[in-house]
Amino acid sequence: MTDKLIIFDTTLRDGEQSPGASMTKDEKLRIARQLERLKVDVIEAGFAASSNGDFECVKAIAEAIKDSTICSLARANDRDISRAAEALRPAKSGRLHLFLATSPLHMEKKLRMTPDQVFDQAKLATRFARNLMDNIEFSPEDGYRSDPDFLCRVLEAVIAEGATTINVPDTVGYAIPELYGHFIKNLRERIPNSDKAIWSVHCHNDLGMAVANSLAGVKIGGARQVECTINGLGERAGNCSLEEVVMAVKTRRDYFGLDMNIDPQHIVAASRMVSQTTGFVVQPNKAVVGANAFAHASGIHQDGVLKARDTYEIMRAEDVGWSNNKIVLGKLSGRNAFKQRLQDLGVQMESEGDINAAFTRFKELADRKSEIFDEDILALVSEESVTHDKEQYGFVSLSQHSETGERPEATIVITVDGKEFKGQSDGNGPVDASLKAIESHVKSGAEMVLYSVNAISGSTESQGEVTVRLQNSGRVVNGVGADPDIVVASAKAYLSALNKLHSKADRVAAQG
Ligand code: KIV
Ligand code: ZN
Repeated sequence: MTDKLIIFDTTLRDGEQSPGASMTKDEKLRIARQLERLKVDVIEAGFAASSNGDFECVKAIAEAIKDSTICSLARANDRDISRAAEALRPAKSGRLHLFLATSPLHMEKKLRMTPDQVFDQAKLATRFARNLMDNIEFSPEDGYRSDPDFLCRVLEAVIAEGATTINVPDTVGYAIPELYGHFIKNLRERIPNSDKAIWSVHCHNDLGMAVANSLAGVKIGGARQVECTINGLGERAGNCSLEEVVMAVKTRRDYFGLDMNIDPQHIVAASRMVSQTTGFVVQPNKAVVGANAFAHASGIHQDGVLKARDTYEIMRAEDVGWSNNKIVLGKLSGRNAFKQRLQDLGVQMESEGDINAAFTRFKELADRKSEIFDEDILALVSEESVTHDKEQYGFVSLSQHSETGERPEATIVITVDGKEFKGQSDGNGPVDASLKAIESHVKSGAEMVLYSVNAISGSTESQGEVTVRLQNSGRVVNGVGADPDIVVASAKAYLSALNKLHSKADRVAAQG
């Protein structure tokens, strides 16, 4: 019998808690399909009780995904648990994930509860959840900073009530690999019924050790589930990165001796999809999925790799899906080829009309750009929001003039609730002028907290992908826009962020 490591992806829940990373239902469904293709064991689809939108997302993912277990987070109270169970009802395989803080700081300052009250609530909530579903995960939030004696008491009780997975979060990223590994080992050794549950690790990356801590939890602590996100997405410094943890366990199978269901061929596509959807750009030197992860610049390395690949390479780029990044379509590609590619990429459009609209935009792009990559198609689809008539603001056209020594000027035509408006402005540069031209009409008053440009597929022929992060009245959103013209891409990203600012519903935070 092989020893299996369960991969639990929380990109759509903990990852989405990053500033501005909130996703629409369609975006989440698309990512969930990619995670299913990647053969992730458990997909945490959201926190159903946090908002009606999150409830609908969990439900839609539970309906659509058949090969992964679908999980919803819930606070340890009857209302949250019932709501999560309701959203998970269509799932072929569902899991309720209950959490309740157990550290002295969180119990006293956040929950304002005594340890005995927390103990009782954890027990009763698990009992309530177990009456609704068989697959129950319990997380003592801020578990790593909790008193081990108290934690043993709580975890023994929730296992006795039927919790099937015990997850030990390092909520604030405070752990050190060896200490975290022994922390889990110690809990498993001291809790008499610990063998009745699968043990899981959930590490945040505040000290840059989320992956190392998770691996220590597995190796030293005996955990058999890792909670992680694509690209390590997550609030503050993020979560444990799925691609890094998976490739570490796979590449060093000699050390870990564990098998996983994951199909790593889909890692790069998943990484691209998450970064394009959320606007969180992947740094070039990021392990496994960064643009430079397999690039050998130094002459000595290039020479070595040409003579024998394993002189400087411990993984093969194609094994994680880099070679799938090929030219897929061009100007002469027909609607069927386009539709097929959308399907291969996990993009499901609501109607034939939507496919026709996307195909028209694909043709427009193919007229301007000879090679269309998967990334272009994904950008075209994610950008739907700024051309979609359901959205408040839409992009129509832009003209701008810039010349050395002159102050740039821009004139933009946008739609507001379907009606066309023109805005004009000058600015420090063409992008500044164009965004000010939008503001001259919209007057959102939003503060821009991030602006970044990235080439989607490398060369200057590539589309520019722009991320704009706006903040207004405490809300933070990211807008992403793509176009071969980076000034147009910037305007689209800005409008996309404005649309999100107007549509983002209030929700309950999972932590804090
Ligand atoms: O980091 C954390 O503690 C969490 C829990 C809600 C599991 O995300
Ligand atoms: Zn977390």
